[in-house]
Amino acid sequence: MNVEKVFATEAQRLRDKRPGISSVPLCLRGLTSVLLFALVVLLPLLAFAAPENAEPVCIECHSKLPEKYSQPVTLWRGSIHAENGIFCNGCHGGDPKDAANAMSPARGFLGVPKEDAIPAFCGRCHVGVLKDYLNSAHGRKLAHGGPTCVTCHGSHQVVKASLELINEKSCSRCHSYERAKVIRAAMQETEALIVAIESRISGYKMTGTDTAKLEQELFAVRNRFHTLFHNVNVELVKQESAGIQADLKKIKVVLDRFDDSRQRRAIAGAVAVSVMLLIALLLHLLRKTFD
Ligand code: HEC
Ligand code: HEC
Ligand code: HEC
Ligand code: HEC
Ligand code: HEC
Repeated sequence: MNVEKVFATEAQRLRDKRPGISSVPLCLRGLTSVLLFALVVLLPLLAFAAPENAEPVCIECHSKLPEKYSQPVTLWRGSIHAENGIFCNGCHGGDPKDAANAMSPARGFLGVPKEDAIPAFCGRCHVGVLKDYLNSAHGRKLAHGGPTCVTCHGSHQVVKASLELINEKSCSRCHSYERAKVIRAAMQETEALIVAIESRISGYKMTGTDTAKLEQELFAVRNRFHTLFHNVNVELVKQESAGIQADLKKIKVVLDRFDDSRQRRAIAGAVAVSVMLLIALLLHLLRKTFD
């Protein structure tokens, strides 16, 4: 018997076992009708809210399967995709709401991609990265010894990208680490600028300053920079870095202006306090002279 059927019959059995309202004692009827009314009013609202938050059936079923099929769930939970609401079906397709047909090709289930199909699989969403990758020395060797997206990022445990991904362990699997080191060095300076600006923006955000526009700008520049790596071309990295650094400096100028006005506010605040203290002192002296 297949797994979908087992789950479907199990679900039906549970539904059949649930007690009806009529088995509730009389004294609770009043309370029951209040609750019923609340349910009637609230359920439609919940039904609207649920699809956004509900986990897909993929997770519910896979969590209970043997290691090979449940491990993706565990790994995925800590990923940037989980954080951004990209569930199993975002990558593998299929129907996230219908357990019986979740993995039906008719519902768009794609299964597990073969090695040479992985870049296109991820590239449905990461279009710019895919383009750079396919034009690179790595992409040209796809399925002939070149790395795919998951060689470097993993498939389920994908985390926020950074230069940490360029390390000896990962990059010396196929060739010497020397090449990797050169490209990492070329990217280091810009990366440091991005990190510094990121932390200044979040500092202002915590104190309640409206940083939405700055965050958006940084997000765009950051993506442009991080995608650049996929060309694995040191000369191109150097060329593009100049333009990217110029855009980062523009964000920095706005932050410097924030710093200035905060300093001015601090000075104004100090002056106001001093003036008030002075007035208080004068009043005190005045009162003393007339006493
Ligand atoms: C009712 C249980 C159940 C549900 C719901 C379910 N799966 Fe599965 N899935 C399985 C079982 C069992 C296997 C292993 C046997 C097989 O391949 O059919 C599996 C295998 C897979 C595989 C590996 C296939 C392969 O070729 O090795 C992927 C990928 C997968 N599921 C993704 C999904 C996604 C995405 C969803 C939701 C849209 C989903 N599953 C929903 C039970 C389920
Ligand atoms: C970011 C895209 C992505 C997401 C999200 C994702 N997967 Fe996968 N999954 C992949 C890729 C790519 C592979 C093939 C891995 C490889 O070849 O290394 C894969 C492989 C699998 C396999 C086969 C594992 C094996 O050893 O054969 C299963 C099962 C699976 N995924 C289930 C899931 C489940 C369940 C979820 C949700 C918790 C999920 N995946 C979420 C991309 C994804
Ligand atoms: C259904 C769309 C979708 C698919 C398919 C997909 N991703 Fe993503 N990915 C996202 C979203 C959304 C984010 C979070 C927003 C962002 O950072 O761009 C993200 C973030 C990432 C990040 C972090 C980006 C950063 O800002 O640091 C990496 C790396 C990544 N994905 C790699 C992959 C890989 C590898 C695959 C294939 C195994 C894949 N993605 C498949 C949508 C997708
Ligand atoms: C799965 C094997 C594999 C892994 C892992 C790998 N590479 Fe490569 N790399 C290749 C192949 C194949 C080429 C192209 C053929 C050649 O030049 O040897 C290449 C070429 C390069 C080049 C030269 C590009 C050019 O235009 O001359 C650089 C730079 C490079 N890789 C950096 C890296 C970095 C950085 C990492 C780690 C994040 C990495 N590689 C991981 C297989 C790999
Ligand atoms: C050789 C290793 C390697 C391969 C292959 C690779 N990446 Fe990356 N990827 C990286 C590194 C390293 C970074 C971070 C670069 C940085 O910090 O500037 C990165 C950054 C990213 C980002 C964040 C940048 C952005 O535009 O948001 C995404 C998304 C991403 N990769 C997806 C992919 C996808 C999809 C593929 C396959 C088409 C892929 N990567 C192939 C190493 C790799």
